[in-house]
Amino acid sequence: MAMIIDGKKVSARIKEEVRQEVVALKEKGVKVGLAVIIVGDDPASRVYVNNKKKACEACEIYSEEYALPAQTEEAELLELIDTLNKRNDISGILVQLPLPKHIDEKKVINSIIPEKDVDAFHPVNVGKIMIGDFDFLPCTPAGVMELIKETGIEISGKECVVIGRSNIVGKPQAMLLLHQNGTVTICHSRTKDLKEVTKRADILVAAVGIPKFVKADMVKEGAVVIDVGMDRDENGKLCGDVDFDEVVNVASAITPVPGGVGPMTIAMLMRNTLTAAKKMEN
Ligand code: GUN
Repeated sequence: MAMIIDGKKVSARIKEEVRQEVVALKEKGVKVGLAVIIVGDDPASRVYVNNKKKACEACEIYSEEYALPAQTEEAELLELIDTLNKRNDISGILVQLPLPKHIDEKKVINSIIPEKDVDAFHPVNVGKIMIGDFDFLPCTPAGVMELIKETGIEISGKECVVIGRSNIVGKPQAMLLLHQNGTVTICHSRTKDLKEVTKRADILVAAVGIPKFVKADMVKEGAVVIDVGMDRDENGKLCGDVDFDEVVNVASAITPVPGGVGPMTIAMLMRNTLTAAKKMEN
């Protein structure tokens, strides 16, 4: 049986470290604040935003939530971001994605100044990640790296396979593994003989968005398996991209869903908000 990597525990530890630094900064008169914007009433986004708010409370980070109606004009959203960009008490700005169809997501991401872009979605921050000179790490891939660290496995020289090539997870994930000298392969829907590729992985990161997509016969004996998925199974129950009950018998370490990567994403957001505040102070 594999080691079950406890994302909740690691996340709590990181949030406590952040909290201590936030308190110390406050004593020096430095404000740490996060503005979270949600447009529309997507239920999953609502849950994520609530969790972010709760995490801010746990870390003693000041937070403001802007819940805008679905029909909000793009110009109005851009104006709000412009105001937040200029405020000294707001260190980080996060616009929850997806946005309603009539709003240009790229334009919105580009309007957040890179110094407050705690998601690390702005092209400037994406570019910095590419060249290994970053201030913010993208939250989910950074959380995955922390969980891999938790297993004690050395990434350098290992076969690392990422399934999924999104801008939010797959691509930056590959880059972070590469920075740690992993031999990295990105798989996607056009990959031929996917199983042959995933079976090579010492470290396998699944970010495809298909429930229980990764089966035991796709995983090498003893691999570390990280599941980024947040899916629903045929009964509507929360599950990941990995068939946990099968893969747990093959892997040496595996993350559960829920309780794996999810809590880590939020912990990394808290860390990025702290980093932004520290940079603003300088
Ligand atoms: N929607 C799904 N994941 C994310 C994320 O990490 N950040 C934002 N802003 N929106 C998301």
